Amino acid sequence: MGKKGVEIVDLDVEKLIETLNQALSEEWLAYYQYWIGARIMSGPMRANVEKELYEHADEELHHAELLATRITELDGTPVLSPEDWPILSKCKYEAPVDSYVESILKQNLSSERCAIQRYESLAKLTDGKDFTTFSIATQILAEELEHENDIETWLDDIREFRESLISEKRVAEKYL
Ligand SMILES: [Fe+2]
Ligand SMILES: [Fe+2]
Repeated sequence: MGKKGVEIVDLDVEKLIETLNQALSEEWLAYYQYWIGARIMSGPMRANVEKELYEHADEELHHAELLATRITELDGTPVLSPEDWPILSKCKYEAPVDSYVESILKQNLSSERCAIQRYESLAKLTDGKDFTTFSIATQILAEELEHENDIETWLDDIREFRESLISEKRVAEKYL
């Protein structure tokens, strides 16, 4: 970015770049968490949820693009090596060792809640001090909030589906 573009940022730019690289690392880990989770998932409503998880994965990748672009605009270097992602990330990557759909979704939910905190704090940090990063933070925050809401809805649907199966089984056992 031109000198003026960096100059108008009313923050410690080096620290801001560090924070953006943490968020960038979190986005890559969130992308992979969705992508691999969707591939190995098993259980009820799998087909419906799988498609949506790929959409979330694509959106996390887009967040990574926005952050990497902003880092280069600030004359910084986006994190260069995947081995630095878990070191820089404040959100824990959880390997989906249990492939059951609810377990996968719960892992994604905790990752989304961590992302919400990240962008809420980035928005507060940059509010009135770096309008471009502020706008990116609020745009990503809105999508992370949607992701959290989507996952909570699917978890509720799966729970209801399971409960309806259990009550049908009870009726069948009683009368058949
Ligand atoms: Fe994201
Ligand atoms: Fe997300």
